Amino acid sequence: MKTVIITGASRGIGLATVKKFLAEGWRVIGTYLNSPIDMNHPDLISIQYDQGDSSSVAKVASQIIDLAFPLDALINNAGVLLDTNDIVADPIKIRKTLEINLVGVIDLTERLLPLFFKGSQIVNIDSGYGAMSIPIDDESVIGYRLAKVALNMYTRHLAFRLQTRGMVVSSLAPGWVKTDMGYSVSTETEKPDREPEQAANDIFQLVTTVKESGQFWKLGEKIAW
Ligand SMILES: NC(=O)c1ccc[n+]([C@@H]2O[C@H](COP(=O)([O-])OP(=O)(O)OC[C@H]3O[C@@H](n4cnc5c(N)ncnc54)[C@H](OP(=O)(O)O)[C@@H]3O)[C@@H](O)[C@H]2O)c1
Repeated sequence: MKTVIITGASRGIGLATVKKFLAEGWRVIGTYLNSPIDMNHPDLISIQYDQGDSSSVAKVASQIIDLAFPLDALINNAGVLLDTNDIVADPIKIRKTLEINLVGVIDLTERLLPLFFKGSQIVNIDSGYGAMSIPIDDESVIGYRLAKVALNMYTRHLAFRLQTRGMVVSSLAPGWVKTDMGYSVSTETEKPDREPEQAANDIFQLVTTVKESGQFWKLGEKIAW
C-alpha cells in the first residue's frame, strides 16, 4: 500500500485530498492544527501539529519516522492567509506567515527526506499569488505572496538537490477554491470558482503521473514561475 502525508488535512483542499487518496487505496497520514480530521477510516492516521512552531514540527517528524512507512508522497498543503485586507505591510503578520507557510514547510520536508525513495513525490501547494509571472492587481496579501514566491524557489532548489535520488518535486497552484481561505479573499462580485475536489484531483493526477521534477503546475498544465 502506498503512503502519502497530507498537511492541513482537516478542511478545504487538504480534506478533499485525503478523501481522494483514500478512495484510490492509499494509506494517508493527515495533519491538522486545531480541528481534528472529522472522519474515520482504517487507512487514515491523524496527527496534530503546528507548522509555525519548530518544536512541534520536530515532534511530528519523529512521530512519522517512528511509523516507519516508506513515503511515496508528501503534500505540503497546510497554510494560512493572514493579511487579506492589509494594504500596508505588517511585519508581525509577515513573520508569522513566513514561519507557517515557508519555514515550517521546509523544516518538515527536510526532516522527512530519509523516508523517501526513487520515484517519491513532494508537492508544495503554492498559489497564483506566488507566481512572479502574474501581474499584481491589488495592494494586499503581501506576506502571503512573499511566502509563496519563496516556496516556489524551494521547489526548484529541492528538485535540483534530489535529482540524483530520482525524486519528483513540484509546486501546484490549485486555482481559486471554495474553502475558508478561498472565501476570505472573495467580494460581492468575485468568488472562488473551483471545488476542493477539483483541486484534489489535480494533486492526485500530479502525484501519479508527472515524472518531470522542478516545475510549477496549475490545472494540469505547466505554468511560468
Ligand atoms: N483556497 C484557495 O483558493 C487557494 C488558492 C491558492 C492556494 N491555496 C493554498 O492551498 C492550501 C490549502 O488552502 P485551503 O484553502 O484548503 O485552506 P483552509 O481551508 O484555510 O485550510 C487550512 C488548513 O491548514 C491547516 N493549518 C493552518 N495553520 C496551520 C498551522 N500553523 N500548522 C498546521 N496546520 C495549519 C488548517 O488546520 P485546522 O483546520 O486545524 O486549523 C487546515 O487544515 C494552502 O497552502 C493555500 O495557501 C489555496
